[in-house]
Amino acid sequence: MKILWFMFLELLSSALSLDNGLALTPPMGWLTWQRFRCITDCKKYPEECISESLIKRTTDIMAKEGYLAAGYNYVVIDDCWLEKKRDANNRMVADRQRFPSGIKALADYVHGKGLKLGIYQDYGTKTCAGYPGVLGYEEIDVKTFAEWDVDYIKLDGCNVDPSKYDTGYPAFGKLLNETGRPIVYSCSWPAYQDNPNYSSIAKYCNLWRNYEDIDDSWASVKNIMQWFAENQDELVRYAGPGHWNDPDMLVIGNFGLSLDQARVQMAVWSILAAPLLMSVDLATIRPEFKEVLLNEDVIAVNQDPLGKQGMRVWTGSDCEIWNRELADGSYAIAFVSLREDGAPFTLEASFDDMKISKKIYKVKDLYNDEKTTFCDIQGKFETRINPTGVRFYKFTPICI
Ligand SMILES: *[C@@H]1O[C@H](CO)[C@@H](O)[C@H](O)[C@H]1NC(C)=O
Ligand SMILES: *[C@@H]1O[C@H](CO)[C@@H](O)[C@H](O)[C@H]1NC(C)=O
Repeated sequence: MKILWFMFLELLSSALSLDNGLALTPPMGWLTWQRFRCITDCKKYPEECISESLIKRTTDIMAKEGYLAAGYNYVVIDDCWLEKKRDANNRMVADRQRFPSGIKALADYVHGKGLKLGIYQDYGTKTCAGYPGVLGYEEIDVKTFAEWDVDYIKLDGCNVDPSKYDTGYPAFGKLLNETGRPIVYSCSWPAYQDNPNYSSIAKYCNLWRNYEDIDDSWASVKNIMQWFAENQDELVRYAGPGHWNDPDMLVIGNFGLSLDQARVQMAVWSILAAPLLMSVDLATIRPEFKEVLLNEDVIAVNQDPLGKQGMRVWTGSDCEIWNRELADGSYAIAFVSLREDGAPFTLEASFDDMKISKKIYKVKDLYNDEKTTFCDIQGKFETRINPTGVRFYKFTPICI
């Protein structure tokens, strides 16, 4: 009965979700916003301003230094790329100083390196940073994006009456579809609403920002984790191949997270089947953070083909257990400590705590701190977690 019900839900979910063949696993890439915000003064901050040189530099590094090979294939320009005025034909114009070659040439460059180009716009009259938005120009803008060979649109929701989202975002998605160009559609629609209609959102968007913008701090990462856990019963129903909840960018490698905290974000975002959108200066990132971003085993959890979003399944002693079911019958299980008292904390978890059945498991430590261990049928699983840190394992049943 339970199995039939699941099959029914799966059918329902595939019938009612966006069918553009894209984002069958959570999108991976790099986005300007969290690290570079709206830095537009290229004289003062030549390495950081939102510009074609930043995008090209990042594209080169992604192609050369293993990021593309690991799966990070979208490079996305967030807000602050536009001129403040449209041209005489009402077309958007990229900032003439900072993007002198224009977006089409930039897309060609990015494609030439084997990556895809994403770009930001806003459903309102203006973007959140005050540049021209699409409202009133939707058709011409979608046509322009397609002509520029853009592969991914992040559509924000500033400066528009929230009652317009429920019809506006689908209408914009329909225009994208009509271009015939495969374009990933990232929506900010639910982040601006109190009671979002997720069945509609999952039908029209490949990914959607549910909640507040992330900041470069542990407090922000923790707050987002908490919100996703509190709302997980509702949210997990809408995640699956082609359509994903988006807890926002990875802030790994910037100023605010310790290495342990960076590992927590990477682990929990993987359990959440979240888009992995780095926002960091890849030219200066420290090697230990790069290693976290490029961890193949953790990325494999994130990109698991079953596409089932995991959940927080236990809390206690200021620690949390997160569990995600994987396509091969394994479970990815993260033991997170929110403790700040000092000395690694020893956590003992029962099979019930971890929400897995009593079997013998091969246990692999995904951050490679420990060798493979075996978990006995009777036994409890014991692990030792650093303050504001994580131990992240894959549990694979080896006996029935
Ligand atoms: C447009 O929508 C149809 C129907 O859902 C789908 O089959 C097709 O792949 C979509 N095309 C693009 C380019 O998104
Ligand atoms: C959600 O949107 C769908 C259309 O996609 C509609 O059929 C349904 O009635 C909406 N639900 C609510 C609660 O408004």
